[in-house]
Amino acid sequence: MREVLGVRLWSRQVEILEAVRDHDEAAVASCHGAGKSFVAADVVLWFLCAHRPAIVITTAPTDRQVKGILWKEIRLAHQRATYPLGGRPLTQELRFADDWWAWGFTAPDYDPNRFQGYHEAHVLVVVDEAAGVSEEIYEAIDGILSGEHCRLLMIGNATDPTGRFGRSWRTPGVKTIRISAYDTPNFTTYGITEADIAAGTWEQKITGPLPYPKLVTPAWVAKRYRRWGPTSPMYLARVLGQFPEAGANTLIPLSWVEAAQRRQLEPGNPNVLGVDVARYGDAETVICHRRGPVFRIYLVATRENTVQTSGRVAVALRETGAAQAQVDEVGVGAGVVDNLEAARKPVMGLNAGAAPRDRERFANARAEWYWGLRERFETGDIDLDPADEELAAQLSSLRYRYTARGQIEIESKDEMKKRGLASPDRADAVMLASAEQPVRKGAVPKHPAW
Ligand SMILES: Nc1ncnc2c1ncn2[C@@H]1O[C@H](COP(=O)(O)OP(=O)(O)OP(=O)(O)O)[C@@H](O)[C@H]1O
Ligand SMILES: [Mg+2]
Repeated sequence: MREVLGVRLWSRQVEILEAVRDHDEAAVASCHGAGKSFVAADVVLWFLCAHRPAIVITTAPTDRQVKGILWKEIRLAHQRATYPLGGRPLTQELRFADDWWAWGFTAPDYDPNRFQGYHEAHVLVVVDEAAGVSEEIYEAIDGILSGEHCRLLMIGNATDPTGRFGRSWRTPGVKTIRISAYDTPNFTTYGITEADIAAGTWEQKITGPLPYPKLVTPAWVAKRYRRWGPTSPMYLARVLGQFPEAGANTLIPLSWVEAAQRRQLEPGNPNVLGVDVARYGDAETVICHRRGPVFRIYLVATRENTVQTSGRVAVALRETGAAQAQVDEVGVGAGVVDNLEAARKPVMGLNAGAAPRDRERFANARAEWYWGLRERFETGDIDLDPADEELAAQLSSLRYRYTARGQIEIESKDEMKKRGLASPDRADAVMLASAEQPVRKGAVPKHPAW
């Protein structure tokens, strides 16, 4: 790699190379920005150039990830090479001969016919963002890995312990590697630990340049530590490279949240706003705009009074054409509901502490609405902004439990704060926008199906 591709790899990247050289199947789960995709690109070029005939197949959950990440790195590595490798890498293909090529595909490109008859060649399959690739694609991949010299490299974030990637850690014979941000060179060079991030002393320790400025940095981690909270599944997966524990009564697993971020659905009805009004100084007032299954955070504001918040909602109603604002009316939210009602705006006050429709199953309306939101994720009926990390962190941190009477209850905001998590204001706004046919304050359902 050093001599031909002209790269300087750090120790765990070398470990990944050795894993592919020595094992049929290797899985690497790491923090964000550990250099997995970078080294995978080098592996693709090495395998292709060092074997003939050879076939290299790469995939990832989305088109953007195939073309914009791994194949971008492959093109850059090919250009950077100190020795002419031959061929010319295209957006998702590098071809030397008919029996000697590399190709990147996503699920829509997948064609079972194209996956036949590779059995004689040297075959390498690289799966990037491996936690998000479907079981169907893995089955197709297994079908081509039956020859004498076959290698599978899966790299990704530790977001889903249940899929093929996550199960690798419990599958005999798979070489597994886990990399925490605290193992990476921008941390180890200066001895920066999680305690330094927690205490805010990390900045003083950085006495020179970062050895790999493009790899994950202490500044990036410090921000996530504060915003997501060190016990959040997002922090575990994206900073520590650890799979979230199963059975922790997680309301919405991170893997479901990520699937919703990848999904693209048609906006529809209802067209409504969900408004979570800040109750404390550091909490945020959040407006979520929902059009059928498509939910987007429309506005986040801090330190505003109820008059200002009411104005924000009125403007949001006008700009989005939403039919109704569904406003959390507990505490200061009540003032916002009153103001909007006085201004004759379409507003529905939602009281999370009120009785649910299904009193057998749920402790309160908050639990019922959140459970309804969970079911949207479970059935694939929700599309979220792929760039909204904070919303993803909040949604995946929520927990539920059962009361003594066996009803479902959602952990309160105060309890979440005690666990070192951020106030789930964005998640609440999404939940409020998702709540359908909510029961008005004091209202008792007249009909069980109402
Ligand atoms: N050895 C290296 N030398 C120089 N640059 C590197 C090296 N390794 C990685 N990089 C750069 O660091 C950045 C992060 O690397 P990369 O995207 O491979 O990380 P990743 O582990 O795949 O992250 P993610 O979890 O976000 O997918 C990229 O810009 C990449 O080009
Ligand atoms: Mg990557």
